[in-house]
Amino acid sequence: MQSAEQRAQWGSRWGFILAAAGSAVGLGNIWRFPYVTGENGGAAFVVVYLACVLLIGLPLLWNELAIGRAGGRDAVNSFFAIRPRTRFAITGVFCLLCCFLVLSYYGVIAGWTVGYAFTSITRRHTEFAQFAADPRWVIPLFGLFMLMTILIVHGGVQKGIERWSKLLMPALLLMAVLVILRSLTLPGAMAGVAYYLKPDFSKITGGVLMTALGQTLFSLSVGWGLMITYASYVKKDQNLISSGFWVVVTDTVVAILGGFMVFPAVFAFGMQPDAGTALTFKTLPAVFEQMPAGNLVGGVFFLLLMVAALTSSISMLEVPVAWLLDDRRLSRHVASWGVGLLAFVIGIPSALSAGGSRWFTEVKLWGKTGFLDIMDLLVGTLLIVLIALLCSVFTGYVWKPANAVDELARGCPGFKKPLVGPISLAHVWTVFVKYVCPLVIGVILLNLIADIAGKKLF
Ligand code: PHE
Repeated sequence: MQSAEQRAQWGSRWGFILAAAGSAVGLGNIWRFPYVTGENGGAAFVVVYLACVLLIGLPLLWNELAIGRAGGRDAVNSFFAIRPRTRFAITGVFCLLCCFLVLSYYGVIAGWTVGYAFTSITRRHTEFAQFAADPRWVIPLFGLFMLMTILIVHGGVQKGIERWSKLLMPALLLMAVLVILRSLTLPGAMAGVAYYLKPDFSKITGGVLMTALGQTLFSLSVGWGLMITYASYVKKDQNLISSGFWVVVTDTVVAILGGFMVFPAVFAFGMQPDAGTALTFKTLPAVFEQMPAGNLVGGVFFLLLMVAALTSSISMLEVPVAWLLDDRRLSRHVASWGVGLLAFVIGIPSALSAGGSRWFTEVKLWGKTGFLDIMDLLVGTLLIVLIALLCSVFTGYVWKPANAVDELARGCPGFKKPLVGPISLAHVWTVFVKYVCPLVIGVILLNLIADIAGKKLF
Protein backbone atom coordinates (compact mmCIF):
# COMPACT_ATOMS: atom_id res chain seq x y z
CA MET A 1 0.00 0.00 0.00
CA GLN A 2 1.12 3.45 -0.87
CA SER A 3 0.86 5.78 2.10
CA ALA A 4 -1.24 8.93 1.85
CA GLU A 5 1.88 11.10 2.17
CA GLN A 6 3.40 9.66 -0.97
CA ARG A 7 0.35 10.28 -3.05
CA ALA A 8 0.16 13.51 -5.00
CA GLN A 9 -1.93 16.42 -3.73
CA TRP A 10 -3.01 19.73 -5.17
CA GLY A 11 -0.86 22.65 -4.05
CA SER A 12 -3.82 24.91 -3.33
CA ARG A 13 -7.58 25.00 -3.32
CA TRP A 14 -7.68 27.26 -6.37
CA GLY A 15 -5.25 25.01 -8.14
CA PHE A 16 -7.72 22.16 -7.75
CA ILE A 17 -10.71 24.29 -8.78
CA LEU A 18 -8.93 25.53 -11.89
CA ALA A 19 -7.78 22.05 -12.85
CA ALA A 20 -11.28 20.59 -12.39
CA ALA A 21 -12.84 23.54 -14.21
CA GLY A 22 -10.20 23.09 -16.90
CA SER A 23 -11.37 19.53 -17.33
CA ALA A 24 -14.99 20.58 -17.49
CA VAL A 25 -14.42 23.47 -19.88
CA GLY A 26 -13.55 21.86 -23.17
CA LEU A 27 -14.70 21.25 -26.71
CA GLY A 28 -18.02 20.44 -25.04
CA ASN A 29 -18.54 24.12 -24.20
CA ILE A 30 -17.30 25.93 -27.24
CA TRP A 31 -17.75 23.41 -30.04
CA ARG A 32 -20.57 21.13 -28.87
CA PHE A 33 -22.78 23.46 -26.80
CA PRO A 34 -23.41 26.11 -29.49
CA TYR A 35 -24.21 23.59 -32.21
CA VAL A 36 -26.42 21.47 -29.96
CA THR A 37 -28.22 24.68 -28.96
CA GLY A 38 -28.53 25.61 -32.64
CA GLU A 39 -29.98 22.22 -33.52
CA ASN A 40 -32.37 22.16 -30.58
CA GLY A 41 -34.13 25.46 -30.86
CA GLY A 42 -31.88 28.12 -29.31
CA ALA A 43 -32.89 29.83 -26.07
CA ALA A 44 -35.39 27.20 -24.94
CA PHE A 45 -32.60 24.63 -24.99
CA VAL A 46 -30.40 26.92 -22.92
CA VAL A 47 -33.08 27.09 -20.22
CA VAL A 48 -33.49 23.31 -20.11
CA TYR A 49 -29.74 22.88 -20.02
CA LEU A 50 -29.39 25.22 -17.04
CA ALA A 51 -32.06 23.27 -15.16
CA CYS A 52 -30.23 19.99 -15.87
CA VAL A 53 -26.93 21.41 -14.67
CA LEU A 54 -28.43 22.53 -11.39
CA LEU A 55 -30.68 19.55 -10.68
CA ILE A 56 -28.63 16.64 -12.01
CA GLY A 57 -25.12 17.83 -12.84
CA LEU A 58 -24.26 19.53 -9.55
CA PRO A 59 -25.56 16.74 -7.25
CA LEU A 60 -23.68 14.12 -9.27
CA LEU A 61 -20.52 16.20 -9.32
CA TRP A 62 -20.60 16.44 -5.51
CA ASN A 63 -21.19 12.71 -5.40
CA GLU A 64 -18.07 11.95 -7.44
CA LEU A 65 -16.03 14.38 -5.36
CA ALA A 66 -17.18 12.60 -2.20
CA ILE A 67 -16.30 9.15 -3.58
CA GLY A 68 -12.89 10.37 -4.74
CA ARG A 69 -11.82 12.05 -1.55
CA ALA A 70 -13.23 9.36 0.73
CA GLY A 71 -11.56 6.66 -1.36
CA GLY A 72 -8.36 8.60 -1.83
CA ARG A 73 -7.25 6.40 -4.72
CA ASP A 74 -7.74 6.09 -8.48
CA ALA A 75 -11.20 5.65 -10.04
CA VAL A 76 -11.27 1.85 -9.50
CA ASN A 77 -9.61 1.56 -6.11
CA SER A 78 -11.61 4.41 -4.56
CA PHE A 79 -14.65 2.13 -4.72
CA PHE A 80 -12.70 -0.69 -3.05
CA ALA A 81 -11.35 1.68 -0.41
CA ILE A 82 -14.90 2.63 0.53
CA ARG A 83 -16.42 -0.87 0.28
CA PRO A 84 -13.88 -3.67 0.02
CA ARG A 85 -14.65 -6.18 -2.73
CA THR A 86 -17.66 -4.22 -3.99
CA ARG A 87 -18.89 -5.19 -7.45
CA PHE A 88 -19.38 -1.50 -8.11
CA ALA A 89 -15.66 -1.19 -8.72
CA ILE A 90 -16.56 -2.20 -12.27
CA THR A 91 -17.78 1.40 -12.54
CA GLY A 92 -14.17 2.50 -12.13
CA VAL A 93 -13.08 0.13 -14.89
CA PHE A 94 -15.69 1.71 -17.17
CA CYS A 95 -14.27 5.11 -16.19
CA LEU A 96 -10.76 4.12 -17.27
CA LEU A 97 -12.04 2.80 -20.57
CA CYS A 98 -14.23 5.80 -21.15
CA CYS A 99 -11.51 8.41 -20.58
CA PHE A 100 -8.99 6.47 -22.63
CA LEU A 101 -11.30 5.91 -25.60
CA VAL A 102 -12.76 9.40 -25.63
CA LEU A 103 -9.24 10.82 -25.45
CA SER A 104 -8.43 8.92 -28.63
CA TYR A 105 -11.00 10.82 -30.70
CA TYR A 106 -11.12 14.05 -28.67
CA GLY A 107 -7.47 14.52 -29.63
CA VAL A 108 -8.40 14.25 -33.30
CA ILE A 109 -10.91 17.11 -33.07
CA ALA A 110 -8.44 19.09 -30.97
CA GLY A 111 -5.88 18.53 -33.74
CA TRP A 112 -8.28 20.17 -36.19
CA THR A 113 -8.42 23.23 -33.94
CA VAL A 114 -4.61 23.47 -34.00
CA GLY A 115 -4.72 23.35 -37.81
CA TYR A 116 -7.45 25.96 -38.02
CA ALA A 117 -5.65 28.33 -35.65
CA PHE A 118 -2.74 28.19 -38.08
CA THR A 119 -4.74 28.54 -41.30
CA SER A 120 -6.85 31.39 -39.86
CA ILE A 121 -3.86 33.46 -38.85
CA THR A 122 -2.07 32.90 -42.14
CA ARG A 123 -5.30 33.54 -44.11
CA ARG A 124 -5.16 30.21 -45.87
CA HIS A 125 -8.58 29.31 -47.10
CA THR A 126 -9.41 25.77 -46.00
CA GLU A 127 -12.32 23.63 -47.08
CA PHE A 128 -13.19 21.57 -44.04
CA ALA A 129 -14.03 18.44 -46.04
CA GLN A 130 -10.67 18.52 -47.79
CA PHE A 131 -8.69 19.36 -44.69
CA ALA A 132 -10.27 16.71 -42.45
CA ALA A 133 -9.89 14.05 -45.15
CA ASP A 134 -6.17 14.62 -45.57
CA PRO A 135 -4.18 12.31 -43.26
CA ARG A 136 -1.01 14.28 -44.03
CA TRP A 137 -2.49 17.14 -42.01
CA VAL A 138 -4.80 15.47 -39.58
CA ILE A 139 -2.48 12.80 -38.17
CA PRO A 140 0.55 15.00 -37.42
CA LEU A 141 -1.72 17.65 -35.83
CA PHE A 142 -3.38 14.97 -33.73
CA GLY A 143 0.08 13.71 -32.77
CA LEU A 144 1.23 17.19 -31.82
CA PHE A 145 -1.77 17.69 -29.59
CA MET A 146 -1.26 14.32 -27.91
CA LEU A 147 2.38 15.19 -27.33
CA MET A 148 1.39 18.38 -25.47
CA THR A 149 -1.10 16.35 -23.42
CA ILE A 150 1.49 13.71 -22.52
CA LEU A 151 4.13 16.27 -21.57
CA ILE A 152 1.80 18.07 -19.16
CA VAL A 153 0.56 14.87 -17.48
CA HIS A 154 4.14 13.65 -17.34
CA GLY A 155 4.92 16.72 -15.22
CA GLY A 156 2.68 15.39 -12.44
CA VAL A 157 -0.31 16.67 -10.49
CA GLN A 158 1.18 19.88 -9.09
CA LYS A 159 3.97 20.64 -11.51
CA GLY A 160 2.10 19.57 -14.62
CA ILE A 161 -1.67 19.66 -14.42
CA GLU A 162 -2.09 22.31 -11.73
CA ARG A 163 0.60 24.64 -13.03
CA TRP A 164 -0.67 24.56 -16.61
CA SER A 165 -4.32 24.90 -15.58
CA LYS A 166 -3.49 28.03 -13.60
CA LEU A 167 -1.88 29.50 -16.69
CA LEU A 168 -4.24 28.27 -19.39
CA MET A 169 -7.60 28.94 -17.76
CA PRO A 170 -7.16 32.71 -17.32
CA ALA A 171 -5.74 32.86 -20.86
CA LEU A 172 -8.84 31.10 -22.10
CA LEU A 173 -11.17 33.55 -20.37
CA LEU A 174 -9.27 36.50 -21.75
CA MET A 175 -9.45 35.14 -25.29
CA ALA A 176 -13.16 34.42 -24.86
CA VAL A 177 -13.81 38.03 -23.89
CA LEU A 178 -11.91 39.30 -26.94
CA VAL A 179 -13.84 37.10 -29.36
CA ILE A 180 -17.18 38.01 -27.78
CA LEU A 181 -16.46 41.74 -27.98
CA ARG A 182 -15.74 41.37 -31.69
CA SER A 183 -18.76 39.16 -32.31
CA LEU A 184 -21.22 41.38 -30.43
CA THR A 185 -20.10 44.61 -32.08
CA LEU A 186 -20.72 43.41 -35.64
CA PRO A 187 -23.65 45.07 -37.43
CA GLY A 188 -26.65 42.76 -37.25
CA ALA A 189 -25.28 40.84 -34.28
CA MET A 190 -28.39 41.45 -32.19
CA ALA A 191 -30.48 38.99 -34.22
CA GLY A 192 -28.14 36.29 -32.95
CA VAL A 193 -28.47 37.53 -29.38
CA ALA A 194 -32.26 37.41 -29.64
CA TYR A 195 -32.13 33.89 -31.05
CA TYR A 196 -29.91 32.88 -28.17
CA LEU A 197 -31.84 34.62 -25.39
CA LYS A 198 -35.56 34.61 -26.25
CA PRO A 199 -36.92 31.18 -25.47
CA ASP A 200 -39.70 29.59 -27.46
CA PHE A 201 -40.86 26.88 -25.10
CA SER A 202 -42.91 25.11 -27.74
CA LYS A 203 -39.55 23.82 -28.98
CA ILE A 204 -38.97 21.68 -25.90
CA THR A 205 -39.59 18.01 -26.65
CA GLY A 206 -38.52 14.80 -24.95
CA GLY A 207 -35.60 14.61 -27.34
CA VAL A 208 -34.46 18.09 -26.37
CA LEU A 209 -34.57 17.11 -22.72
CA MET A 210 -32.45 14.03 -23.33
CA THR A 211 -29.93 15.97 -25.35
CA ALA A 212 -29.65 18.56 -22.59
CA LEU A 213 -28.97 15.89 -19.99
CA GLY A 214 -26.37 14.19 -22.14
CA GLN A 215 -24.70 17.53 -22.76
CA THR A 216 -24.68 18.22 -19.00
CA LEU A 217 -22.74 15.04 -18.20
CA PHE A 218 -20.36 15.56 -21.09
CA SER A 219 -19.69 19.17 -20.31
CA LEU A 220 -19.30 18.91 -16.54
CA SER A 221 -16.97 15.88 -16.87
CA VAL A 222 -19.39 13.95 -14.69
CA GLY A 223 -19.69 10.22 -15.33
CA TRP A 224 -16.06 9.69 -16.31
CA GLY A 225 -14.35 9.03 -12.99
CA LEU A 226 -12.52 12.23 -13.59
CA MET A 227 -13.88 14.04 -10.57
CA ILE A 228 -13.20 10.91 -8.50
CA THR A 229 -9.56 10.97 -9.57
CA TYR A 230 -9.08 14.72 -9.13
CA ALA A 231 -10.85 14.69 -5.73
CA SER A 232 -8.48 11.98 -4.52
CA TYR A 233 -5.73 14.62 -4.62
CA VAL A 234 -7.73 17.06 -2.45
CA LYS A 235 -6.83 17.65 1.20
CA LYS A 236 -9.32 16.45 3.78
CA ASP A 237 -10.10 19.88 5.19
CA GLN A 238 -11.00 21.47 1.88
CA ASN A 239 -14.52 22.53 1.08
CA LEU A 240 -15.72 20.23 -1.70
CA ILE A 241 -19.18 21.75 -1.81
CA SER A 242 -18.02 25.22 -2.74
CA SER A 243 -15.21 23.92 -4.97
CA GLY A 244 -17.71 21.79 -6.91
CA PHE A 245 -20.04 24.75 -7.11
CA TRP A 246 -17.30 26.92 -8.65
CA VAL A 247 -16.47 24.28 -11.18
CA VAL A 248 -20.11 24.18 -12.27
CA VAL A 249 -20.35 27.97 -12.42
CA THR A 250 -17.18 28.29 -14.51
CA ASP A 251 -18.20 25.55 -16.89
CA THR A 252 -21.69 26.96 -17.37
CA VAL A 253 -20.48 30.52 -17.81
CA VAL A 254 -18.01 29.42 -20.48
CA ALA A 255 -20.69 27.39 -22.28
CA ILE A 256 -22.99 30.43 -22.31
CA LEU A 257 -20.08 32.60 -23.49
CA GLY A 258 -19.48 30.03 -26.24
CA GLY A 259 -22.90 30.89 -27.61
CA PHE A 260 -22.13 34.60 -27.44
CA MET A 261 -19.02 34.04 -29.52
CA VAL A 262 -20.81 32.05 -32.16
CA PHE A 263 -24.41 33.21 -32.67
CA PRO A 264 -24.03 37.00 -33.06
CA ALA A 265 -21.32 36.44 -35.68
CA VAL A 266 -23.28 33.72 -37.47
CA PHE A 267 -26.40 35.91 -37.70
CA ALA A 268 -24.47 39.05 -38.62
CA PHE A 269 -23.30 37.30 -41.78
CA GLY A 270 -26.66 35.71 -42.55
CA MET A 271 -25.56 32.13 -41.90
CA GLN A 272 -27.64 29.30 -40.44
CA PRO A 273 -27.20 28.44 -36.74
CA ASP A 274 -28.17 24.78 -37.13
CA ALA A 275 -25.27 23.46 -39.18
CA GLY A 276 -24.56 20.79 -36.54
CA THR A 277 -20.99 19.66 -35.95
CA ALA A 278 -19.95 21.75 -38.95
CA LEU A 279 -20.90 24.99 -37.20
CA THR A 280 -17.42 25.53 -35.78
CA PHE A 281 -15.32 24.25 -38.63
CA LYS A 282 -17.36 25.33 -41.68
CA THR A 283 -19.73 28.15 -40.77
CA LEU A 284 -17.38 30.06 -38.47
CA PRO A 285 -14.31 30.09 -40.75
CA ALA A 286 -16.57 31.49 -43.49
CA VAL A 287 -17.70 34.16 -41.03
CA PHE A 288 -14.12 35.00 -40.05
CA GLU A 289 -13.11 35.35 -43.69
CA GLN A 290 -15.66 38.11 -44.18
CA MET A 291 -14.92 39.95 -40.95
CA PRO A 292 -12.49 42.87 -40.70
CA ALA A 293 -9.33 41.50 -39.05
CA GLY A 294 -11.13 38.16 -39.15
CA ASN A 295 -7.88 36.25 -39.44
CA LEU A 296 -6.83 37.44 -36.00
CA VAL A 297 -10.25 36.85 -34.46
CA GLY A 298 -10.34 33.40 -36.04
CA GLY A 299 -6.81 32.65 -34.87
CA VAL A 300 -7.65 33.65 -31.30
CA PHE A 301 -10.89 31.66 -31.43
CA PHE A 302 -9.24 28.43 -32.56
CA LEU A 303 -6.38 28.88 -30.14
CA LEU A 304 -8.92 29.27 -27.37
CA LEU A 305 -10.61 26.08 -28.50
CA MET A 306 -7.26 24.30 -28.42
CA VAL A 307 -6.50 25.52 -24.90
CA ALA A 308 -9.94 24.42 -23.71
CA ALA A 309 -9.37 21.00 -25.28
CA LEU A 310 -5.90 20.68 -23.77
CA THR A 311 -6.97 21.18 -20.15
CA SER A 312 -9.64 18.53 -20.80
CA SER A 313 -7.44 16.01 -22.54
CA ILE A 314 -4.84 16.11 -19.77
CA SER A 315 -7.58 15.20 -17.32
CA MET A 316 -8.71 12.30 -19.49
CA LEU A 317 -5.17 10.98 -19.64
CA GLU A 318 -4.73 11.40 -15.88
CA VAL A 319 -7.59 8.98 -15.07
CA PRO A 320 -5.91 5.83 -16.49
CA VAL A 321 -2.46 7.12 -15.52
CA ALA A 322 -3.58 7.47 -11.88
CA TRP A 323 -4.76 3.85 -11.94
CA LEU A 324 -1.45 2.63 -13.35
CA LEU A 325 0.39 4.52 -10.62
CA ASP A 326 -1.84 3.46 -7.72
CA ASP A 327 -2.69 -0.05 -8.74
CA ARG A 328 0.06 -1.20 -11.05
CA ARG A 329 2.92 0.73 -9.44
CA LEU A 330 4.21 2.04 -12.74
CA SER A 331 6.19 5.25 -12.81
CA ARG A 332 4.47 8.40 -14.06
CA HIS A 333 6.98 8.47 -16.87
CA VAL A 334 6.04 5.04 -18.22
CA ALA A 335 2.32 5.46 -17.53
CA SER A 336 1.88 8.84 -19.22
CA TRP A 337 3.92 7.97 -22.31
CA GLY A 338 2.47 4.47 -22.54
CA VAL A 339 -1.19 5.45 -22.28
CA GLY A 340 -0.75 8.61 -24.34
CA LEU A 341 0.95 6.81 -27.23
CA LEU A 342 -1.59 4.00 -27.13
CA ALA A 343 -4.44 6.54 -27.26
CA PHE A 344 -2.76 8.05 -30.30
CA VAL A 345 -2.61 4.69 -32.07
CA ILE A 346 -6.21 3.82 -31.15
CA GLY A 347 -7.24 7.29 -32.35
CA ILE A 348 -5.92 6.80 -35.88
CA PRO A 349 -9.17 5.20 -37.16
CA SER A 350 -11.04 8.27 -35.82
CA ALA A 351 -8.54 10.54 -37.54
CA LEU A 352 -9.22 8.71 -40.79
CA SER A 353 -12.98 8.79 -40.39
CA ALA A 354 -13.62 12.16 -42.03
CA GLY A 355 -12.62 10.99 -45.49
CA GLY A 356 -9.08 9.69 -44.89
CA SER A 357 -10.10 6.06 -45.18
CA ARG A 358 -13.23 4.96 -46.94
CA TRP A 359 -14.06 2.17 -44.55
CA PHE A 360 -13.68 4.22 -41.36
CA THR A 361 -15.63 7.08 -42.95
CA GLU A 362 -18.54 4.99 -44.14
CA VAL A 363 -18.84 2.39 -41.39
CA LYS A 364 -22.33 2.52 -39.90
CA LEU A 365 -23.77 1.51 -36.57
CA TRP A 366 -27.15 2.35 -35.09
CA GLY A 367 -27.80 5.34 -37.26
CA LYS A 368 -24.31 6.85 -36.90
CA THR A 369 -21.87 7.00 -39.76
CA GLY A 370 -18.10 7.12 -39.36
CA PHE A 371 -15.82 5.68 -36.70
CA LEU A 372 -15.53 8.90 -34.69
CA ASP A 373 -19.30 9.40 -34.46
CA ILE A 374 -19.82 5.78 -33.50
CA MET A 375 -17.25 6.07 -30.70
CA ASP A 376 -18.92 9.26 -29.53
CA LEU A 377 -22.24 7.45 -29.32
CA LEU A 378 -20.96 4.29 -27.61
CA VAL A 379 -18.48 5.81 -25.21
CA GLY A 380 -19.03 9.58 -25.11
CA THR A 381 -22.80 9.17 -24.70
CA LEU A 382 -23.95 5.69 -23.62
CA LEU A 383 -21.10 4.71 -21.33
CA ILE A 384 -21.03 8.01 -19.42
CA VAL A 385 -24.75 7.83 -18.74
CA LEU A 386 -24.26 4.29 -17.41
CA ILE A 387 -21.34 5.39 -15.20
CA ALA A 388 -23.33 8.33 -13.82
CA LEU A 389 -26.16 5.93 -12.98
CA LEU A 390 -23.84 3.43 -11.27
CA CYS A 391 -22.16 6.17 -9.21
CA SER A 392 -25.44 7.48 -7.86
CA VAL A 393 -26.76 3.98 -7.12
CA PHE A 394 -23.48 3.15 -5.36
CA THR A 395 -23.76 6.14 -3.05
CA GLY A 396 -27.52 5.91 -2.66
CA TYR A 397 -27.70 2.22 -1.75
CA VAL A 398 -24.28 0.69 -1.09
CA TRP A 399 -22.10 3.35 0.52
CA LYS A 400 -25.20 5.14 1.88
CA PRO A 401 -25.77 8.89 1.51
CA ALA A 402 -25.13 9.58 5.22
CA ASN A 403 -21.48 8.55 4.78
CA ALA A 404 -21.09 10.64 1.67
CA VAL A 405 -22.67 13.57 3.52
CA ASP A 406 -20.06 13.19 6.28
CA GLU A 407 -17.29 13.32 3.69
CA LEU A 408 -18.78 16.40 2.01
CA ALA A 409 -19.38 18.14 5.33
CA ARG A 410 -15.67 17.97 6.23
CA GLY A 411 -14.49 21.42 5.35
CA CYS A 412 -18.10 22.53 4.88
CA PRO A 413 -20.05 22.20 8.15
CA GLY A 414 -22.81 24.37 6.67
CA PHE A 415 -23.78 21.46 4.44
CA LYS A 416 -25.52 19.77 7.37
CA LYS A 417 -26.96 22.93 8.96
CA PRO A 418 -30.71 23.47 8.64
CA LEU A 419 -31.53 26.03 5.95
CA VAL A 420 -35.31 26.03 5.65
CA GLY A 421 -37.05 24.74 8.79
CA PRO A 422 -35.22 21.54 9.73
CA ILE A 423 -34.10 20.85 6.15
CA SER A 424 -30.42 21.15 5.27
CA LEU A 425 -28.68 21.12 1.91
CA ALA A 426 -27.48 17.63 2.84
CA HIS A 427 -31.10 16.43 3.09
CA VAL A 428 -31.92 17.82 -0.32
CA TRP A 429 -28.79 16.30 -1.82
CA THR A 430 -29.64 12.90 -0.31
CA VAL A 431 -33.03 12.90 -2.03
CA PHE A 432 -31.36 13.78 -5.31
CA VAL A 433 -28.60 11.22 -5.18
CA LYS A 434 -30.88 8.44 -3.97
CA TYR A 435 -34.03 9.01 -5.98
CA VAL A 436 -34.05 11.86 -8.48
CA CYS A 437 -30.73 11.22 -10.24
CA PRO A 438 -31.04 7.44 -10.65
CA LEU A 439 -34.60 7.82 -11.89
CA VAL A 440 -33.87 10.57 -14.39
CA ILE A 441 -30.68 8.92 -15.62
CA GLY A 442 -32.36 5.53 -15.84
CA VAL A 443 -34.98 7.09 -18.09
CA ILE A 444 -32.34 8.70 -20.31
CA LEU A 445 -30.51 5.41 -20.60
CA LEU A 446 -33.68 3.55 -21.58
CA ASN A 447 -34.48 6.24 -24.07
CA LEU A 448 -31.01 6.10 -25.57
CA ILE A 449 -31.24 2.34 -25.92
CA ALA A 450 -34.73 2.56 -27.43
CA ASP A 451 -33.45 5.24 -29.77
CA ILE A 452 -30.64 2.98 -30.90
CA ALA A 453 -33.11 0.15 -31.41
CA GLY A 454 -35.04 2.50 -33.68
CA LYS A 455 -37.97 3.15 -31.34
CA LYS A 456 -38.57 6.61 -29.92
CA LEU A 457 -39.83 6.71 -26.33
CA PHE A 458 -39.99 10.50 -26.19
N1 PHE B 1 -15.96 18.25 -20.12
C1 PHE B 1 -15.14 18.15 -21.29
C2 PHE B 1 -15.73 19.02 -22.38
O1 PHE B 1 -16.66 19.72 -22.17
C3 PHE B 1 -15.02 16.73 -21.73
C4 PHE B 1 -14.36 15.90 -20.70
C5 PHE B 1 -15.03 14.95 -20.02
C6 PHE B 1 -13.04 16.08 -20.40
C7 PHE B 1 -14.40 14.18 -19.05
C8 PHE B 1 -12.42 15.32 -19.47
C9 PHE B 1 -13.08 14.35 -18.79
O2 PHE B 1 -15.24 19.00 -23.47
